[in-house]
Formats: sequence, structure tokens, C-alpha cells
Amino acid sequence: MDFMQPLSASRIKKNLNTSLIGSEILVFDEIDSTNDRMRSYFDRKEGIVIIADSQTKGKGRFGRSWLSSKGVGIYLSTLLKPKAPPQQLSPIALMAGVASVLALDGFSKIKPTLKWPNDILVNGKKLGGLLCECCLSGDDSKILIIGIGINVNHAEFPGDLAQTATSLRMENGAPADRVAIIRSLIAHLDREYASFILEGALPVVKKWSDRTTMFGKTVNLTRGGTAVRGTATKLDEQGRLGILTEKNEEVFFDSGEVTLME
Ligand code: BTN
Repeated sequence: MDFMQPLSASRIKKNLNTSLIGSEILVFDEIDSTNDRMRSYFDRKEGIVIIADSQTKGKGRFGRSWLSSKGVGIYLSTLLKPKAPPQQLSPIALMAGVASVLALDGFSKIKPTLKWPNDILVNGKKLGGLLCECCLSGDDSKILIIGIGINVNHAEFPGDLAQTATSLRMENGAPADRVAIIRSLIAHLDREYASFILEGALPVVKKWSDRTTMFGKTVNLTRGGTAVRGTATKLDEQGRLGILTEKNEEVFFDSGEVTLME
């Protein structure tokens, strides 16, 4: 099969028996950003999925751009409307990271791992990332856009990305079927979100922790203009990252960018 051919909406939807995620699936050839486009669909039922074959303004965290070349990556967003207090929103983003690595397990020779808050790594390089945006907060229901980018069939990366990014094709030595991965992603998001609704944040934090290799390692966390260096210890029940600083204090962070120092 030619894995570079445009994404087939009918193949994605065929026998996809999910209860919430994928209730509606829209596939675009090229759009600006699946996260930005989702803003036109706020009135739809939660679980709607937008997928693009390429993005002209793919967004990463911290206002960075996300390389969104045609035919080689997965660029997917879904809309969630959880009835959850504000402290449960970070665990929902972590839930999506857990669903993503579980979805990729069958497609990657080496099991992908997570770096806080939501980078997907293989061999220390970035295979994918999540951009979660909280858009509206009504009385008790929030609107969350969960955007997921996965490098699937890239043969190489330009410029600085060549040192830091990887793709399934580069790691496996063979191209992968984006449609099959998207189906797995939607199915795992559906399952993990349902179990979050039933069981809450703690199981998510546990599953996330099982899929990281960063605990015990020296990290540098930057946010705003400040940097903290120390040893990553654990996530607390709100999904905040614990760092044991050089002053021997364990401090928990709810946001920031982490660099692994070893
Ligand atoms: C990161 O910086 O690691 C997050 C990258 C998130 C990229 C995805 S691709 C689909 C969705 N649409 C976007 O514009 N960004 C996210």
C-alpha cells in the first residue's frame, strides 16, 4: 500500500465503534491548524475529530510552529467538554498523552515514552507532541481542544529539527499506515477518556508515570524568565511535575518546558 496517499475518511471511519471520540470525523486536505479550525465547531457534540493531511500554520507549544508536511504526519484535534473542576484539566491533557503512546505501541519497534507534560519520545528524540488549549469555561463545563501531532513517514527533518525530531519511518526503517494509526489513536482516546470520567485523575497519573523515563533524571525546567534545575521526582495527583531542587526542596510545577540533562 502507498502510505503517502491522501488520508481516506471512509477508511478512518470504517467500523470504528467508539462511544464518544470520533462521533463526527472531518478530514481536510490542507487547513491552517486543526486546533484553530476546531474553534468553528464549539457547538458540536464533544468527541468531534478534525484531521488534516497538511497544515499551513501548525502550532506547537510556546507559540512555536509545528512542521506539518503533506502526506507524512498525523495532525489531529478533538474537542472535549468535561464537567470537571479546573484542577482536573491538566490530567485530561495527560490522559491524551497516555492514549497517544498506547495507540502507537503497535506501530513502533521501540515503545514510545512521555516527557512532561506531553512530548512523545523515541530514542530520546521527539516523535510527537500534544497542544491542549482550554477555550471557554462555563459554569461547570469547559471546552478543551486536544491537538496531537505525530511524525509518521518523514524521511528526514530540516535544520535544527534533524537533531531533535524523529519519525516512525526513521525508527522502524519502514513506512507506517497513517490511517491505521489514526484509528488506533481515536479508539485509545475514547477508552482513556471514558475511564477518566469514571475513575478520575489518579489512574491517569499512574498510567502516565508508567510511560515516562524522566523520573530520577536531572532536568531543567524553564517558565517565564526563570529556570529551575533538579531531579524530576514524580507527578502529584493534579499532574504537576515534582522537582527536587539543588536546595533539597521538592517543588511542584503546573507548567513549563523541561529539558532532560542526561
Ligand atoms: C508540541 O509543541 O509538542 C505540540 C505540537 C502539537 C501539534 C499538533 S498537530 C495537530 C494540532 N494542530 C496544531 O496546530 N497543533 C496540534
